[in-house]
Amino acid sequence: MTIERPAARPANPRFSSGPCAKPPTFELNKLAGAALGRSHRAAVGKDKLKAAIEGTRELLGIPADYRIGIVPASDTGAVEMALWSLLGERKVEMLAWESFGAGWVTDVVKQLKIDAEVKTADYGQIVDLASIDFNNDVVFTWNGTTSGVRVPNGDWIADDRAGLTICDATSAAFAMDLPWDKLDVTTFSWQKVLGGEAAHGMLILSPRAVERLESYTPAWPLPKIFRLTKGGKLIEGIFQGATINTPSMLAVEDYLFALDWARSVGGLRGLIARADANAQAIFEFCDQNDWIDNLAEDPATRSNTSVCLKFTDPRIRDGASFAKAVAQRLEAENVALDIGAYRDAPAGLRIWCGGTVETSDIQAMLPWLKWAFEAEIAAQAEAA
Ligand SMILES: Cc1ncc(COP(=O)(O)O)c(C=O)c1O
Repeated sequence: MTIERPAARPANPRFSSGPCAKPPTFELNKLAGAALGRSHRAAVGKDKLKAAIEGTRELLGIPADYRIGIVPASDTGAVEMALWSLLGERKVEMLAWESFGAGWVTDVVKQLKIDAEVKTADYGQIVDLASIDFNNDVVFTWNGTTSGVRVPNGDWIADDRAGLTICDATSAAFAMDLPWDKLDVTTFSWQKVLGGEAAHGMLILSPRAVERLESYTPAWPLPKIFRLTKGGKLIEGIFQGATINTPSMLAVEDYLFALDWARSVGGLRGLIARADANAQAIFEFCDQNDWIDNLAEDPATRSNTSVCLKFTDPRIRDGASFAKAVAQRLEAENVALDIGAYRDAPAGLRIWCGGTVETSDIQAMLPWLKWAFEAEIAAQAEAA
């Protein structure tokens, strides 16, 4: 039995959850103005780093009294700097509902050996957000990239908290509203929602986070790459473009391009609307097809960036190899690249819906997903 291929193909088949699709207007030659071969500490380099910081502030609506730093080692670097520099002053609550959050738990419990209360939920679910004591420091991931489960909003975070909130927002920033008054430390990477390059992370600190940095010294040694203070004072230069070590000026230029593109689609509101429309197209596809479902159980927690899907057809014999085979068919047809579920996540698919993805491409890809599913069901029956 042959199953007919859909007529149309997505113009761009890139649906990877990181590095994510470049902005639709991206061309390499648009980075020709990069300060290549120049010192990042010369005016030309420093101005670009400053523009990256201030452009981030403007687009994300970050308050003027929050510090924004460009740091090494992408989002991971930014999160690690925060964990190593700030934790240990008081008890910590670690919240995790997928693999990246679980990674931060390992760091805190096994490496830093901090007194932590660990709250976890299975893939598809979220921890009980009403159970958190904000006298403690609280570490969490705004959007769990590998489960497609996000916090619904920031209402669960206490305004009068004594502890700090440390939020890995790498697959949320530029796609979801982040309530800055509820977030003391926020991190993200350029390679996610804006389709920038990896290598650098953004570390955003509230005045209370700075206060902690200046009043508390951890018991453990800090490598130079993590150090945010000198002589008990914040190193302000890091938050004005004087990076700890040498950044990639090509990656900086690329991020500046992405920020400009973000402005051209209506800034944060435009980006959120694009991600919402992309995710909505997939949600509707799931509603119309009884063989596929969102991994996120509660609709209020469904991600609009890393949409994770599971196959639910009872005819499927081996879920993991079935999902893999579907992803391979789509890749071979060049209609969807890199959409297999994350290695530690349940078998299924993960389709990136951040703002750099065009809704028309999601819409053109979905009939192919149906085609690949039916082809794989048929192949399974033939093999039996
Ligand atoms: C939630 C989350 N945290 C951290 C990371 C690691 O980011 P990076 O590789 O940019 O350091 C990722 C990457 O996908 C992520 O999704």
